[in-house]
Amino acid sequence: MADLDQTLAVALKGYAWLPDLRRRAGGGPVRTRVLGQPAVGICGDAAARFFYTNGHLERHTALPGLVVRTLFGEGAVHTLDGAAHRRRKSLFTSLLMDDGIDRLAKMAGEEFDAAADQWCGGPPVRLFDESARIIARAVSRWVGVPLEDREVVALARDCVAMVDGFATVGPRTVRALAARLAQERRLSKIIAGVRAKPPTRSPLSIVAHHSDDGQVLDPRVAAVELLNILRPTIAVAWFVAFAAHAMDMWPRHQSRMRAGDDDFTLAFTHEVRRFYPFAPFLGGRATRDLFFQGEPIPAGTLVLLDVYGQNHDPELWTDPYRFDPDRFLHREIGEFTLIPQGGGDPRTGHRCPGERITVALLGTLSRRLAELDHYLPPQRTGIGLSRIPALPRDRIRLVVPEHRR
Ligand code: HEM
Repeated sequence: MADLDQTLAVALKGYAWLPDLRRRAGGGPVRTRVLGQPAVGICGDAAARFFYTNGHLERHTALPGLVVRTLFGEGAVHTLDGAAHRRRKSLFTSLLMDDGIDRLAKMAGEEFDAAADQWCGGPPVRLFDESARIIARAVSRWVGVPLEDREVVALARDCVAMVDGFATVGPRTVRALAARLAQERRLSKIIAGVRAKPPTRSPLSIVAHHSDDGQVLDPRVAAVELLNILRPTIAVAWFVAFAAHAMDMWPRHQSRMRAGDDDFTLAFTHEVRRFYPFAPFLGGRATRDLFFQGEPIPAGTLVLLDVYGQNHDPELWTDPYRFDPDRFLHREIGEFTLIPQGGGDPRTGHRCPGERITVALLGTLSRRLAELDHYLPPQRTGIGLSRIPALPRDRIRLVVPEHRR
């Protein structure tokens, strides 16, 4: 079975595909074929360390064209290797990993409060879509992109479409491609306008004036990279929907966050990122003949790091299918252990530079939600693992009664 091309199996089984394949092969590295190419699936601390060792793998030949055209954008940092990657990556690490994060989280909290006032006493709202708009308002303010409200709504819708359509072929892909085209065009014009003015300290201006090698980026590539800040930030809405799901399933966690326990809130955000499915696996191509745990990996082989499998690996997590934020209290998290956003050092490798922003936004919005009197009316809250990206079926419908606080 593992010798047959598994592309269809990936489409049918989604998050469960690689963990199942590994389990059937006894848990170690598993050989397979995807997209007509030989591949090896790996999982665990040592696997993540191997995956992120500089020089082992390259990305620019490994990422499927459709994923680049929908999710990341052509010319994006995700698709670069070596020195070109390091130069571009410094733009993101300097912008996304400093003290500006608290300001963004504060803005998201304000936007949540304003939206919650509107929900109060009204019909059910869809928390997932509302969160995407809340975050879109906050991050466009933070980045310094001047947007009218209808443009914020379009930005949220388009960024959600780009994420929703990257792992499938069909109407969702078409929506993702159209969304990317529209946003790249609009943001390229904004970039051109900003370049005509003196630089400021806003992220928009910094991206617009960034140069990799003495020359500013092509306006479309600059727009792609601006979207690589806006889109994944808006995608935190997936985790907000999962946080609401967790509070509904296990209400005691909501009470602890309501009580203002900051350590617990942080642990809750880590557990949401570990427990719920988002990135299924990551891929890179072996640049030379390699060995992992005695298994030869010839040059050119695709190496797939099983992110979902690792976040549910019983070797790493006691009772991995139990949602238990306490597992993160008073625990150091290894660089290669919790990998929903990649592993290793984000400054030198491909690990997500937006992890701190994700944790800050998810913590702020989960706490706000915990403090808000609300209930979930009857709805489909199941999360199918075959759909990538996964989401509770009814996107979390939520009611806020008249007297909510
Ligand atoms: C890379 C997940 C939020 C910006 C990545 C990677 C993953 C990931 C799995 C790939 C790591 C690799 O290829 O080794 C997520 C998830 C998020 C999230 C699940 C939550 C919604 C963010 C945010 C930002 C961001 C908030 C920016 C504000 C990026 C960028 C890269 C990246 C620019 C490319 C890094 C590189 O190739 O060097 N993310 N991310 N992400 N993420 Fe995130």
